Amino acid sequence: MLFRSKDIAALESRYRAALINSLSGFKPANLIGTADRQGQTNLAIISSVVHLGSQPPLLALIIRPSPVERHTLDNILDTGCYTINHVSDQFIEAAHQTAARYPREQSEFAATGLGELWVEDFAAPFVREASIRMGLKLREHQQLEINDTHFLIGEIALAEVPDDCLGDDGSVDICTAGTVALSGLDSYYNTRRLRRMAYAKPDLPPTPVD
Ligand SMILES: Cc1cc2nc3c(=O)[nH]c(=O)nc-3n(C[C@H](O)[C@H](O)[C@H](O)COP(=O)(O)O)c2cc1C
Repeated sequence: MLFRSKDIAALESRYRAALINSLSGFKPANLIGTADRQGQTNLAIISSVVHLGSQPPLLALIIRPSPVERHTLDNILDTGCYTINHVSDQFIEAAHQTAARYPREQSEFAATGLGELWVEDFAAPFVREASIRMGLKLREHQQLEINDTHFLIGEIALAEVPDDCLGDDGSVDICTAGTVALSGLDSYYNTRRLRRMAYAKPDLPPTPVD
């Protein structure tokens, strides 16, 4: 099947969403933990987290524009703090359920049974069941002109990684951590590392390491 611009524009909206959401390849599955100033917590699954840079350590995420309330966005803009928690295979169902539109006063932690974890004085809750978790401070917010989506850039202030997943060179074995991958808006995958490659240089052939 070959889709051209005019074909894509003519697609039924849910079909188009499923198609276009699948085309960027595997995406990360993360739960974003936030709280409002009164301490009311919120948790939402988000697949749009991307690496922006290591120095300073920045991650970005995208929140869609919508006529409905956006609790995660409101809390992040209000407190400037949020957590990013990897989804692992043990709690895919609960993680997926956080996408449901619960009222603001109902926390997705309580609704799904996932545990709140508060670390030091960080003003957003982490997910107790997650093996890899980060606390972020908002550094930049832009509403993109092209489609009104909110682009949020955060700096990693806290990062927790299990010792057995942390390599001597700083790389994290997210496969051992049980982190899952996402396709589209509903398909979860476990992962298997196929090989690791040495830093690519023009004068060297592609070289697998370990
Ligand atoms: C697999 C999956 C991935 C999602 N990724 C995003 C995303 O990257 N950005 C977004 O705005 N919403 C995303 N959503 C939708 C949110 O999870 C959903 O709108 C949620 O209700 C937001 O909750 P909140 O209003 O409490 O913040 C995703 C939903 C699913 C099921």
